[in-house]
Amino acid sequence: MRLIGLLCIGAPLVAAIWPIPTKYTSGTDVLWIDSNVKVDYENPDTGSTSNASQQLVQTAIQRTYKTISDQLFVPWRFHPRFTSFEPSTDNKIFISSIVLKQNSPDVEGFNKPNDTTVDESYQLSVATSGEVKITANSSVGLVYGLTTFSQLFFKHTAGGSYTNLAPVEIQDAPKFAHRGINMDVARSYFPVSDIKRILDAMAQTKLNRFHFHVTDAQSWPLEIPALPELSGKGAYYTGLVYTPEDLKDIQDYARSLAIEPYLEIDMPGHTSSIWFSNPDLVAAFNTQPDWSTYCAEPPCGTLKLNSPAVDDFLEKLFDDLLPRVTEYSSYYHTGGDEVNKQAYLLDDTVKSNDSAVLQPLMQKFVDRNHDQVRKYGLTPVVWEEMLLEWNLTLGKDVLVQTWQSDAAVAQTTEKGYKALAGNYNYWYLDCGLGQWLDFRPESAAGFYPFADYCSPRKNWKLMYSYDPLSGVPADQQHLVVGGECHMWTEQTDSATIDRQLWPRAAAAAEVLWSGAKDEQGKNRSQILASPRLVDFRERLIARGIQAELPHMAFCTQNGTQCAL
Ligand SMILES: *[C@@H]1O[C@H](CO)[C@@H](O)[C@H](O)[C@H]1NC(C)=O
Ligand SMILES: *[C@@H]1O[C@H](CO)[C@@H](O)[C@H](O)[C@H]1NC(C)=O
Ligand SMILES: *[C@@H]1O[C@H](CO)[C@@H](O)[C@H](O)[C@H]1NC(C)=O
Ligand SMILES: *[C@@H]1O[C@H](CO)[C@@H](O)[C@H](O)[C@H]1NC(C)=O
Ligand SMILES: *[C@@H]1O[C@H](CO)[C@@H](O)[C@H](O)[C@H]1NC(C)=O
Ligand SMILES: *[C@@H]1O[C@H](CO)[C@@H](O)[C@H](O)[C@H]1NC(C)=O
Ligand SMILES: *[C@@H]1O[C@H](CO)[C@@H](O)[C@H](O)[C@H]1NC(C)=O
Repeated sequence: MRLIGLLCIGAPLVAAIWPIPTKYTSGTDVLWIDSNVKVDYENPDTGSTSNASQQLVQTAIQRTYKTISDQLFVPWRFHPRFTSFEPSTDNKIFISSIVLKQNSPDVEGFNKPNDTTVDESYQLSVATSGEVKITANSSVGLVYGLTTFSQLFFKHTAGGSYTNLAPVEIQDAPKFAHRGINMDVARSYFPVSDIKRILDAMAQTKLNRFHFHVTDAQSWPLEIPALPELSGKGAYYTGLVYTPEDLKDIQDYARSLAIEPYLEIDMPGHTSSIWFSNPDLVAAFNTQPDWSTYCAEPPCGTLKLNSPAVDDFLEKLFDDLLPRVTEYSSYYHTGGDEVNKQAYLLDDTVKSNDSAVLQPLMQKFVDRNHDQVRKYGLTPVVWEEMLLEWNLTLGKDVLVQTWQSDAAVAQTTEKGYKALAGNYNYWYLDCGLGQWLDFRPESAAGFYPFADYCSPRKNWKLMYSYDPLSGVPADQQHLVVGGECHMWTEQTDSATIDRQLWPRAAAAAEVLWSGAKDEQGKNRSQILASPRLVDFRERLIARGIQAELPHMAFCTQNGTQCAL
């Protein structure tokens, strides 16, 4: 009994599920689990989606086995020092069965969903007797149920895995359908193994969109077989490319985790890397030293805006790439951020920075792109500037990705468009690392202390405080389909990506899954979230993801000792 008393004081206030479920109750009974447990999947489907559903759920079951047998941790951080918090290893009661019940067949296209395709809800119950049942209306819901289930377990120092939370009853569903990370692989190149590790961590926190920002001004790592010189000359170095096989490998891996991968080739700005293979298509390439007049960061360069050669190039590019996108995604991102009007003074097909000249050309450029994107059955995504700054007339199918402010979300929905949130003041993971530009000795003093444009760093608490619906009137909130946090990589590469992303991106994931407000409509409490986030971080570490520590063990060892 003494032991149970200590357990109650030391245990986290709620079981450490991240993101927090909609409805949740748990007890304090101990159940063990081993890899002999039988999992039974009742799939009602015999139709066209059946094999894909089977495959998704079977993969999730295998991953659950692996998590439970190899990727748990001993939760000493959550118990007073030198107390024996672990359950007795005598008379173990084991989980006896896990039944996965899918209420209805998966709909066509469930594995490349839009914001309404999939019912992601699930119910999970763990009885004290050891019977586990997960129910969902889709295979994706079952995957989430298994992810939550695995977060109930801990490693025992004597070996084995247990939960001390039975009985458990959970009902859960996401607040937002689109929960993503925008990953820039052009400022720095990331090997496929890094991308898979990111996807693996994303799945643990129920993020479901991988926005693959695959080219930019600095490098073109994406191999395009019809235009081999693009990566042949535009990658940073031999081999720092994604071959068609690599892309497929990433897409397949994402899909196997119920994550939808979608690509962005940003344009017409952010395209300087095309110059290395096609100098005639790019204006204002690497203008120096006054680059800041013509772009936001070096090297400058923009696709010419009134050029039949550019149109031909894009047609060929899209015809090569889009058939490989559409198999896995509903979306294709055509870019459109930070287009610098001055660059068109140097564009021999335009020679003007006058909006009255540029705007109709931009309209034509985007119309051409979107027509071709739709031809492949894809929904175009654009950065907010195309709608809010360039005043383009966009099809009502277009999904608008906002980033500059809360007002941008509201302005987008006001115009009747679906919006993604991700205000850079909250959800840019690159901020706060300091300037990567080098300042000349004579001007350096003027830039002291060399903070970057979006400094300070967006810590997890700030990210957690962000409400995607902030400022959006109630009758337009349904148009906010979700959001993304953004990993721009001017100063992050393979060596530091894990800690740059995690666990901060998980704070955004909880906002997107559970909503920014608690069940009383109040801002979610950092004090309640923090032990769960520390637990989630331990789970990432146990999977080999080098996530940062939210705070020291002292804070979680005896309740919540670090509250203010
Ligand atoms: C599902 O897989 C089975 C066995 O591999 C195959 O025979 C069947 O044609 C597949 N069904 C569909 C709809 O793809
Ligand atoms: C979303 O997907 C569903 C099912 O795949 C489809 O019926 C619906 O028309 C799609 N909605 C949009 C806006 O494309
Ligand atoms: C499944 O669909 C039904 C009917 O729409 C709904 O009541 C239920 O909440 C959904 N989710 C689960 C996990 O059953
Ligand atoms: C257009 O370019 C001219 C010449 O460089 C410059 O003086 C002017 O400020 C620019 N206009 C706009 C709207 O940026
Ligand atoms: C878009 O409209 C705003 C407000 O009317 C105007 O200030 C801006 O110059 C327009 N942009 C372009 C590119 O025409
Ligand atoms: C809730 O959070 C928002 C956004 O961070 C903040 O503006 C607001 O003041 C908070 N409300 C309360 C009651 O603390
Ligand atoms: C643990 O926390 C309780 C309640 O705040 C406090 O009374 C107790 O002294 C703490 N124990 C230690 C060892 O810090």
